[in-house]
Amino acid sequence: MKIKGKSYQTIWLKENDAYTVQIIDQRWLPHQFVIEDITSSQAMGIAIKDMHLRGAPCIGAAAAYGMYLAAVEAPQDDFQTYLAQRATYLNQTRPTAVDLSNAIRSISKKLIACKSQKEAVAICLNFAIEACKESVEHCRLIGQHGLEIVKSLHAKNPNQPVNILTHCNAGWMACVDYGTATSPIYAAHDAGIPVHVWVDETRPRNQGARITAFELLEHGVPHTVIPDNVGGHLMQHGMVDMVIVGSDRTTRTGDVANKIGTYLKALAAKDNQVPFYVALPHSSFDWTIRDGVKEIPIEKRGSKEVSYIQGKTKTGEIQEVLLTPEESPALNYAFDVTPAHLVTGIITERGICKANEKDILELFPEYI
Ligand code: MRU
Repeated sequence: MKIKGKSYQTIWLKENDAYTVQIIDQRWLPHQFVIEDITSSQAMGIAIKDMHLRGAPCIGAAAAYGMYLAAVEAPQDDFQTYLAQRATYLNQTRPTAVDLSNAIRSISKKLIACKSQKEAVAICLNFAIEACKESVEHCRLIGQHGLEIVKSLHAKNPNQPVNILTHCNAGWMACVDYGTATSPIYAAHDAGIPVHVWVDETRPRNQGARITAFELLEHGVPHTVIPDNVGGHLMQHGMVDMVIVGSDRTTRTGDVANKIGTYLKALAAKDNQVPFYVALPHSSFDWTIRDGVKEIPIEKRGSKEVSYIQGKTKTGEIQEVLLTPEESPALNYAFDVTPAHLVTGIITERGICKANEKDILELFPEYI
């Protein structure tokens, strides 16, 4: 997607420097656009953990490039031991988004028969490049399938924009390109269907207010940022036609882990008969589990993310300020699980299905 008219993806290999990976450092958005050079697997792990980049498919891609950098660093004699250690290190950086462990598992499988460090470098680089290409195509296809839902909502009420509520940032910054939840929104906007997006600010890190709003603004999509607790009221007053969110891990039965607060939106949507869709590529499925509430590991982050808030001062500096009494404890669960029965449908690269094991596996029969 474009920023100030120039096309970007969230992660790429630096031009004329095969040993440097570049990322958009999302910590400074929307006020500063910073590109960070990453030259070691250690630095990539820090970038994932400290959320220089974030979003499930994006950190899957970052893990793949992290393994590439690890292969470059690996000693020639004992490269397999080094790569296994680095896989473990990268794998523990963020526990909920399954794209990360799915990418590391796939790359580790490809490395089993590898005979030399040089070959490992080639395998990892090829994997990272192809995984990014595949992720972009999957997100594009999610947009095309989701577009049909937006079209049908618009046909019911052709004189109004379709009002879509989204939570957190499941946009192109959370992926390699296009986004998951935002891909149908961009596709509809580009097809001339009037859409308007309610952007949940998404405390505590405000990925909606900072990143989704920035993306939509850059693409010219009409939107309004709302505090997290406004959605239910809007739904009660007929101001939301559909909700679309992304997912960090979805079980084979259709339970969805996504940014904390998603569950409350799903409850409000159910109570108001507002369709609640989840958009995700197959890299965000965890095929090994059935009960999302019991089995999905929920990341707990530092309490400072709750007690401090970041913004731009009147003099243009980015600063963090303390929001709560210094002595008040704060709790920071990063994700929650929306049970399948609250989900109207899942939008994937292969089409749309109901959130249950039978319908999901009809689209993905290789995981039966
Ligand atoms: O903690 P984050 O910012 O990585 O959480 C991201 C989300 O919850 C997104 O909504 C999610 O990854 C959806 S996938 C594009």
